[in-house]
Amino acid sequence: MTRTVYLNGKYLPENEAQISIFDRGFLMADGVYEVTSVIGGKLVDFDGHAIRLARSLKELMFTGDVIAKEELLAIHRELIARNELDQGMIYLQITRGAPSDRDFVFPDPKAVKPTIVLFTQNNPKMVNNPTALKGLKVISIADERWGRRDIKTVQLLYPSMGKMMAKAAGANDAWLVEDGFVTEGTSNNAYIVKDGAIITRELSNDILHGITRAAVLRFAKEAQMAVEERNFTIAEAQDADEAFITSASTFVMPVVNVDGADVGTGKPGPVAARLREIYLEETLKTAV
Ligand code: PDD
Repeated sequence: MTRTVYLNGKYLPENEAQISIFDRGFLMADGVYEVTSVIGGKLVDFDGHAIRLARSLKELMFTGDVIAKEELLAIHRELIARNELDQGMIYLQITRGAPSDRDFVFPDPKAVKPTIVLFTQNNPKMVNNPTALKGLKVISIADERWGRRDIKTVQLLYPSMGKMMAKAAGANDAWLVEDGFVTEGTSNNAYIVKDGAIITRELSNDILHGITRAAVLRFAKEAQMAVEERNFTIAEAQDADEAFITSASTFVMPVVNVDGADVGTGKPGPVAARLREIYLEETLKTAV
């Protein structure tokens, strides 16, 4: 089955969707994105992703209403239906559009409309992911990204390089470290568990404000689990009882080894397993 994608108001077979070489997403990484998971054909945390998208656009000085939330929801739903997507993700990207030439200065928004792209990614093993039973190995690397990591921009070169560094070291992912403290993972938020408390860096411009993070911390507090939003080091992670990451594509995923040192028993721990269970159970109640 050929995938149907969305491009600027049209639903097209993926090989017919084309974008200008002058698109600012291509030339300048001048764009933002969202990844929303789909379980049982329904969108997980759609509202959270729509709100963060609007914030990212505002922070990058996109003007006017780029796209209404209702229209965005309708497009997401249409893509799920047309591609018969049961489990997987919807990727959405909005760039500042394609002016007639390369120029650092933003084009006039009245003359150049944003480029809006959405496509589905099928992943039938997202919920029953075998990796959740094994856990991930991570390495630490310096956080060399720009200073506005709270904006979900398409500038993903350093995170991609981080994943490659992890792969070269025989690990699954990398945790980024700045001034001695973990900021987050290359494409996820990072956590440790010590003496029952769930510890994760507080929100600031240093990290992406994960939609999964917000939900998981809310569910943890509702389940009377202790949550501490504070910085932690790699040494603390290696000495923790458990570690895990969260993101829309992995939900809650245990981390069992940091820079070659086993975390706790070196096997996925009960807190991460319980949080994964609670997250999947609770989040499905509000899926649309
Ligand atoms: N990544 N931190 C970073 C740097 C991320 O790229 C992501 C998401 C997260 C988690 O955010 P959320 O819970 O809203 O997915 C944290 C997506 C999944 C990606 O780039 O594919």
